[in-house]
Amino acid sequence: MNVDSKEIDEFLVSLLRKVGKNLREDSIKKMSVATKKNRNDLVTNFDKKTEKFINNEIKQFYPEATIVSEEGYGDLVKDMSGLVFFVDPIDGTMNFVKRGDNFASMIGVYIDGQPLIGAIIDVMDNEIYHGGKEIGLYIDNEKINTPKNLPLVEGLVDVSAPMALSNRFSVQDVIKKSSGFRVYGSAGIIFGHLLTGKEVMYMSYLAPWDLAAGRVMCEAAGLSVVSIDGAPINMLESQVVIVGTQKVVSEALKTLKTR
Ligand code: IPD
Ligand code: CA
Ligand code: CA
Ligand code: CA
Repeated sequence: MNVDSKEIDEFLVSLLRKVGKNLREDSIKKMSVATKKNRNDLVTNFDKKTEKFINNEIKQFYPEATIVSEEGYGDLVKDMSGLVFFVDPIDGTMNFVKRGDNFASMIGVYIDGQPLIGAIIDVMDNEIYHGGKEIGLYIDNEKINTPKNLPLVEGLVDVSAPMALSNRFSVQDVIKKSSGFRVYGSAGIIFGHLLTGKEVMYMSYLAPWDLAAGRVMCEAAGLSVVSIDGAPINMLESQVVIVGTQKVVSEALKTLKTR
C-alpha cells in the first residue's frame, strides 16, 4: 500500500488542532463522569464525543483504514495489515476531570504493522508533538532535537501510580538510581517530556491506544520502547512498557525483577 506520510501528518495535526479547541471550549460545559473497571477508571461524555468526532474524520479521509480506539467506536481489528489508526480521545481522563490540565489527545498510525506517524496534543498548552521516522519530529512547526542518551543517574523517571506503588517489579530500585521520579498521570504528556529530554524513562501498563502515537515518535527519536519481558511490542494487546533513552532502558531491564 502506498501512503503519503507527510499528508497523514498534516491531517493529524489539523484534526488534533480542532480536537484541542473543542476540548478547551467543552471543559466549561456540563461534564458527566462515569466509571468503567473501577472507581479510578473514568470516562466522560467528552471522551466519547471526541472519539466519535476523530473516528468519523478518519473514516471520511481514509475510508480504507481500520481504527483501534478506547471508548468503543472503533473497529474490531484482528491484525495489523493495511493502514491502522490508534485513537485515544482523552489521555489522562483523571487529570481532565480533577485538574483541567495535563491531559492529551493522541493518534498513532501504522502501516502493515510498521510505525508511520504519531501525533499528540497537550490540550491546555495547545502544543502538538508530531511526525515519524520518515519526516522527522516536530512540536507544532519547530523541529525537535534528538534527546541525549542520558544514563539513569542523570535524569527524572516517570512511573504510573499503580506501577510505583506495586512491589511486583521492584521499580523502586530503578527510581532510587535516578535523579527522582514524577507521576504526571497522562502517557501523552509524558511522551512529550521524553521527546524533549525532560525525563529519561517512563514505565506503565499501557493499552494499544495509550502507546501507539508515543511509540512512533519515541522510536523515531532514537529512544527505546520495550515490553518489560523484552518481548517484541504487540500493538493489539496491553502490556507493561518501558520507554526511555537506550542507556536507561538497558539499566532498567537489568535492575527490574521481571519474574
Ligand atoms: C491512562 C493514562 C495514565 C496511564 C494509564 C492510562 P486514560 O489513560 O495515560 O497515565 O497510567 O495506563 O490508561 O485512561 O486517561 O486514557
Ligand atoms: Ca481511560
Ligand atoms: Ca490513555
Ligand atoms: Ca483515554
